[in-house]
Amino acid sequence: MRITRRETFNAAHRLYRPDWDDMKNMEVFGKCSNPRWHGHNYVLFVTVEGSVDLQTGFVINLKELSRIIEEHVIQKLDHKNINLEVDFMQGKLASTENLAIGIWQQLEQPVTDAGGSLFCVKLIETENNFVEYFGS
Ligand code: NI
Repeated sequence: MRITRRETFNAAHRLYRPDWDDMKNMEVFGKCSNPRWHGHNYVLFVTVEGSVDLQTGFVINLKELSRIIEEHVIQKLDHKNINLEVDFMQGKLASTENLAIGIWQQLEQPVTDAGGSLFCVKLIETENNFVEYFGS
């Protein structure tokens, strides 16, 4: 059985490599390379896999899952600049792919500690673009 919790946050970023000049960055990353930053309204889906607990009827307590996501992900990202302010994204290119991997790494242990097994982190950056990460 898989169960999914949806959360939202908004954050600013810039896609760029410091070892490339602005022109090359703009060529590869387009508008997401604007030197003055820009933001997205991200939508995050966290899916946990497990069997249904006979006592609670839950795969994982969604209130607890929501608290874990809030503490380890949302508080660190919401209304923040991903490039400058988010500890688990330091030194990484702030792409949706890398952000999903970072979110997975933030959540894996706490979800395990709560008795669940993280199955998927799905991150929607825009209406047309999203990624899904399954831990590899
Ligand atoms: Ni962008």
